[in-house]
Amino acid sequence: MSERISVFGTGYLGATHAAGMAELGHEVIGVDVDAAKIERLSRGEVPFFEPGLPELLRRHVESGRLRFTTDAAEAAAFADIHFIGVGTPQVKNGYGADMTYVDAVIETLAPMLDGPAVILGKSTVPVGTAQRLAERVRELAPVGDGAQLGWNPEFLREGFAVEDTLRPDRLVLGVDPANPGRIEEIARRVYAQALERDTPFVVTDLATSELVKVSANAFLATKISFINAVAEVCEATGADVKDLADAIGHDARIGRKFLGAGLGFGGGCLPKDIRAFMARAGELGVDQALTFLREVDTVNMRRRQHVVDLAASEVGGSLNGARVAVLGAAFKPDSDDVRDSPALDVAGTLHLRGAQVRVHDPEAMDNAARIWPTLDFLPTAEDAVREADLVIVATEWKEFRELDPETVGRAVSHKRIIDARNCLPEQAWIDAGWTYRGMGRHSA
Ligand code: UDX
Repeated sequence: MSERISVFGTGYLGATHAAGMAELGHEVIGVDVDAAKIERLSRGEVPFFEPGLPELLRRHVESGRLRFTTDAAEAAAFADIHFIGVGTPQVKNGYGADMTYVDAVIETLAPMLDGPAVILGKSTVPVGTAQRLAERVRELAPVGDGAQLGWNPEFLREGFAVEDTLRPDRLVLGVDPANPGRIEEIARRVYAQALERDTPFVVTDLATSELVKVSANAFLATKISFINAVAEVCEATGADVKDLADAIGHDARIGRKFLGAGLGFGGGCLPKDIRAFMARAGELGVDQALTFLREVDTVNMRRRQHVVDLAASEVGGSLNGARVAVLGAAFKPDSDDVRDSPALDVAGTLHLRGAQVRVHDPEAMDNAARIWPTLDFLPTAEDAVREADLVIVATEWKEFRELDPETVGRAVSHKRIIDARNCLPEQAWIDAGWTYRGMGRHSA
């Protein structure tokens, strides 16, 4: 059955969710305060890089099932199911999450709800937010109890956002048990196709649903920092973290995923979510429970410093004047997102330490140049490595994994490579005469 849906926020999450809902057969209106973004989306253009999304968006903008507006009133009049997909970035002066955008959606939308409506929050928020917002909606909405709020956290990964939206591995819905209303029934209608495929559907209270999301991200971050901490020990002993991860990963209780040692995690979610989780635990008086996340954060940041130090030692001790090619600026491959990107952090730090840094990234150079306009961005990897004293692979894009060590070897001044993502065929590079340095590897 087709539902009338609005999605507030048209960033990575909101735009993908809006297009995904249209693909599931619903009629969708996307809302954003950014007029330029709305104009591009209305033309069927995605303002960021996400594989598969441009095709999906264009198809549904053309079919008329998906449209965009800056006018919240238009969305309130059109839809009776409203998703919130705006950002909750880290506040500038601390660890907490900035709730300005989520609050603004509620303050704008709720007073316009004069008929039965369900609001489903998708943004990652500090535990307790949904309860507060549910009460605010009841206060502000002319329809009163006819407007209900549930929480439906999103687990999409950049680069796989379309797949994760259309075929999620689980659905989670938080509902106030004292006031369940029609929220579950509505959510079941929205996600009917996934539920028919027996996608696990966890219905719980609001606080649990909020905690599910941050716990999932905190667990993933912990897994990555765990293996990076072990990588440090491997480096001190000549052991190999990749073999080690393969070996422990065969234990089904542990699993091999997210045991990729390297430059650590970045992006718009993991770093800020663990910090917001710690900040919220502090407010709740249970800060000790999450003290370990501070260590997770520290281990993670140490990886970036490690790569910079390794780079210095590879070029003879001082980075001053060294020509370094950094391949990768995005926080991970198949994304143009440079938010808290370890790759860009390394490139920028090398630059500040006096190196002549040349950067290439297949998709993220425009975004990277906005943050680091003083770095030298080159149109191809071949250009970036020319006459380099050192090459660093900082994001594991396929095109970097498949570089030919012989060809690259002819372009550089010195055949030295740091594989900061442990993503290259090590032996092929060594056979081609390169000094290869991995992370936590025999060759570290
Ligand atoms: C993450 C969660 O995976 C997703 O479920 C949630 O909805 C949003 O946050 P995303 O930020 O897109 O998604 O990236 P993810 O694939 O989780 O990678 C995060 C970071 O960890 C990247 O910088 C990646 O390079 C790094 N990483 C990942 C590792 O360093 N090692 C690994 O083994 C895996």
